[in-house]
Amino acid sequence: MERRFKRTLITTALPYANGPVHIGHLAGVYIPADIYARYLRLKGEEALMIGGSDEHGVPITLRAKKENVTPQDIVDRFHSLIKKSFEDFGITFDIYSRTTSPTHYQTASEFFRILYDKGVFIEKTSEQYYDEKSRQFLADRYIMGVCPHCGNDQAYGDQCETCGTSLSPTDLINPKSMISGSVPIMKETKHWYLPLDKYEPFLRKWILEEHTEWKSNVYGQCKSWLDMGLQPRAVSRDLDWGIPVPVEHAEGKVLYVWFDAPIGYISNTKELLPDSWETWWKDPETRMLHFIGKDNIVFHCIVFPTMLVADGTYNLPENVPANEFLNLEGDKISTSRNWAVWLHEYLEEMPGKQDVLRYVLTANAPETKDNDFTWKDFQARNNNELVAILGNFVNRALVLTEKYFDGKVPAAAGLTDYDQQTLQDFIHVKRDLERLLDTFHFRDAQKEAMNLARIGNKYLADTEPWKLAKTDMPRVATIIHIALQITANLAIAFEPFLPFSMEKLNGMLNVEPLGWDRLGATDLLAAGHQLGETELLFEKIEDPIIAAQVQKLLDTKKANEEANEEATGKAGNRTKPIRETIAFDDFSRLDIRVGTVLACEKVAGADKLLRFLIDDGLEQRTIISGIAPFYDPDTLTGKQVCFVANLAPRKLKGVVSQGMILSAEDADGQLTVITPEKFIRPGSEVK
Ligand code: 2FM
Ligand code: ZN
Repeated sequence: MERRFKRTLITTALPYANGPVHIGHLAGVYIPADIYARYLRLKGEEALMIGGSDEHGVPITLRAKKENVTPQDIVDRFHSLIKKSFEDFGITFDIYSRTTSPTHYQTASEFFRILYDKGVFIEKTSEQYYDEKSRQFLADRYIMGVCPHCGNDQAYGDQCETCGTSLSPTDLINPKSMISGSVPIMKETKHWYLPLDKYEPFLRKWILEEHTEWKSNVYGQCKSWLDMGLQPRAVSRDLDWGIPVPVEHAEGKVLYVWFDAPIGYISNTKELLPDSWETWWKDPETRMLHFIGKDNIVFHCIVFPTMLVADGTYNLPENVPANEFLNLEGDKISTSRNWAVWLHEYLEEMPGKQDVLRYVLTANAPETKDNDFTWKDFQARNNNELVAILGNFVNRALVLTEKYFDGKVPAAAGLTDYDQQTLQDFIHVKRDLERLLDTFHFRDAQKEAMNLARIGNKYLADTEPWKLAKTDMPRVATIIHIALQITANLAIAFEPFLPFSMEKLNGMLNVEPLGWDRLGATDLLAAGHQLGETELLFEKIEDPIIAAQVQKLLDTKKANEEANEEATGKAGNRTKPIRETIAFDDFSRLDIRVGTVLACEKVAGADKLLRFLIDDGLEQRTIISGIAPFYDPDTLTGKQVCFVANLAPRKLKGVVSQGMILSAEDADGQLTVITPEKFIRPGSEVK
């Protein structure tokens, strides 16, 4: 049986305060959470929505270093900007605080200390990269080197952004410290680990058996993490930005950002309700929901619950309605590439159009898969849906009331079958909307609300009251009465989605906001009630406005390409056109073979060259290849490569090269050696 709860605690992922927020943030987390919170409040339920900025982590320190300011300067700047953007878009946080607040420092330290005192953590010493010049251990993000998978020489110690592979710092070829540029050494360091493996049986039962109702993307990700087997995770780091590890002999160590950030939800509740915060976290009658993006699933479904269970006094989340990602015009949104629609810029360029963006982002919400935002779609949804359906209906109903009844709600006199049927149609809306909202299907819920406006439009189009004004005013009165009831229903149904416009509509109807329980009622506006001033709810967006936005993105794309070309020194090197056609004979003159690399080393005095000793099936031969920038020679020994065996020998840097190793070059000039898909006898021909 479904559990009944007294109140709901809604948490929203804390965005990193190292940049402004964009449409991806809004679509994935804050709009769905806000719709849900508004819905619960409209229903008169007790609900809290908690937010804040995540102000620790290495990217913040990197940005500070780049700008030659302190990390605190960075987070102060972006925390204010982010907070303002959320306010401007009507995201109704009960509190929006930050993880550099004193309450958070205290709460996170105490949380760690409780687990520490209970003996939950494992202490482990391991070897990590250390920069001798700047005398500090290097966080994964502070190390750069060549990616072993794609040869990108700017890969980070935790991830290669070119090929997307997750890395550990020790995977990097030629690692370098980003702080001093020196080659780091390995040095021992001690850290505290949360033994996720010990909690695996509990997590399996709690998620896989007891929460089968979670969204399939969330459940599926949890299942694959659990099936892979959980490992202990370090919850501390060697860093000088963060919350100091609150135990003795932990100088220079701070809590890992992903340990302290979710505790921020607790700290912020405490800051808001110092005396009653525990009711929201520990009373079994409170239901907790985490609204997040898909990259945060493991932390909210596995790591944070483990921390809460290890403490033993907290509730666990009841649901984690995580969304997938929103792309922008076909490309992944990226802060570093400036590929985003930033909320503060949108508002400067489209003042007063918060609801349009809210509407479009909900209509395209990445609820089950990644979705795309395009300016064309933005324009079409505004013009064809908000203006043509919702705005048009409301405007017609209100203008007709003004015109024929001096702005007073007329009384209905004698309903026809068609009137009755129309009323029946919209009575279902409440039940349907609730079913969708209760299961976090916000896109469909918004569609359902729009259907109510469609019902209204159809009703006016079918009954044509403007044609009856001369002959049958009582009938006109009835029609307008019904149209106005539909309008008042729209003001309730759309409040969670389009709060600014519905506030305006309430003003036009001259009513206080109506509660959710009134949705579906046919007597929301009494006969004789005086309406307010009518104004347009939405305006058409013309082509030049959209063209300007598209141009802005094209300019960004161009600037990025130029920056890339400058960085790689390969101006104009994109996918090359196919060369002229050749005869089959020309091709068959090439003798391409598979060889096994017996040895591989750098050629002295030549940065780019590697010398290969190849077993070609008949004998051993030497081949020189210009792939040194992309490979650590040791990783190639033992591998198989393809080479042109009948190429005339050439002398390179004093060494005779007997053939050519085949590799593929991408648009950035990165070379990748071609290897057979499985081991094959050396000397085999490639055809
Ligand atoms: O992915 C992010 O942007 C993180 N800052 C989210 C943190 S959510 C929570 F745990 F605070
Ligand atoms: Zn890579």
